[in-house]
Amino acid sequence: MGIKADFRGEEGVRKLLDNKKKQYEKMDEKEKNEFDREALENPYLDSGIHYIAEDKEIKKILVGIDIEPAEILMAKELGNIDLIIGHHPLGKGLAHLADVMSLQCDVLNYYGVPINIAEGLMRERIEEVARGVNWRNHRRIIDTAELLKQNLINIHTPCDNLAAKFLKDLIEEKKPEIIGELIDLLKEIPEYKEAMKIGAGPKIFVGTPENRCGKIALTEITGGTEGSPKLYEKMANAGIGTVVGMHVSEEHKKQAEEAHINVVIAGHISSDSLGINLFLDKLEKQGIEIIPCSGFIRILRS
Ligand SMILES: [Fe+2]
Repeated sequence: MGIKADFRGEEGVRKLLDNKKKQYEKMDEKEKNEFDREALENPYLDSGIHYIAEDKEIKKILVGIDIEPAEILMAKELGNIDLIIGHHPLGKGLAHLADVMSLQCDVLNYYGVPINIAEGLMRERIEEVARGVNWRNHRRIIDTAELLKQNLINIHTPCDNLAAKFLKDLIEEKKPEIIGELIDLLKEIPEYKEAMKIGAGPKIFVGTPENRCGKIALTEITGGTEGSPKLYEKMANAGIGTVVGMHVSEEHKKQAEEAHINVVIAGHISSDSLGINLFLDKLEKQGIEIIPCSGFIRILRS
């Protein structure tokens, strides 16, 4: 499902895997031993199977945005949880978060930013993110799952791809003209409606409700985490008028303002929930019981 919803298209994802295969084949023995062979099959290394305590039929799952030792303890306490599914990267997935960010180059290119500029600016940002997650305690959560014998996986970018595709299709169908209309459109989505109840609904970070949207780009929903702040100027040159994202840093906001790009923040946990829900609907149809936790808003679409 993640590949089908991918901005690069199935063909683009296959090309990425083929390139990794070619790189692998050129490696010497030492390099091959150090290479994570999962990269040859899984285009989303920020997602994966982290621990299998028991390979059993899955009837009941605990699903959360951030799985930490507390959530694993909770699964144990609730009992009969066959599998814990986290959204945000953990374990090896967290160490490999930067790997999925090259997807953003293709998304930017899709919206008209020349690929050389997207790749050039993303390269330094990808390295920055890789260094940024390096210090983390990657094993802590996996260790807890092992000790408490809980099956544990996480699905990040495939779900974010589903959310991006959903929002892109909706916006292209409804064609909001001004920012106020775009916000109203987002506010009709149940996950954002729920988020509004706690003050975390869609918000304008740059621009006014009367501003015209221009070309709306979904460049900040999928692809790991925030891209380079230097990109806004290039995006403006490429004819992008409005960016819809999950979250935005102050530095990014400042750069967007200078480039006269409107920024609409749909919401972080609510957008994450949207993507997860589109995937979980398939599981629920197969009779799997879902227990939401850790901020995840479960909405069933039939
Ligand atoms: Fe997220």
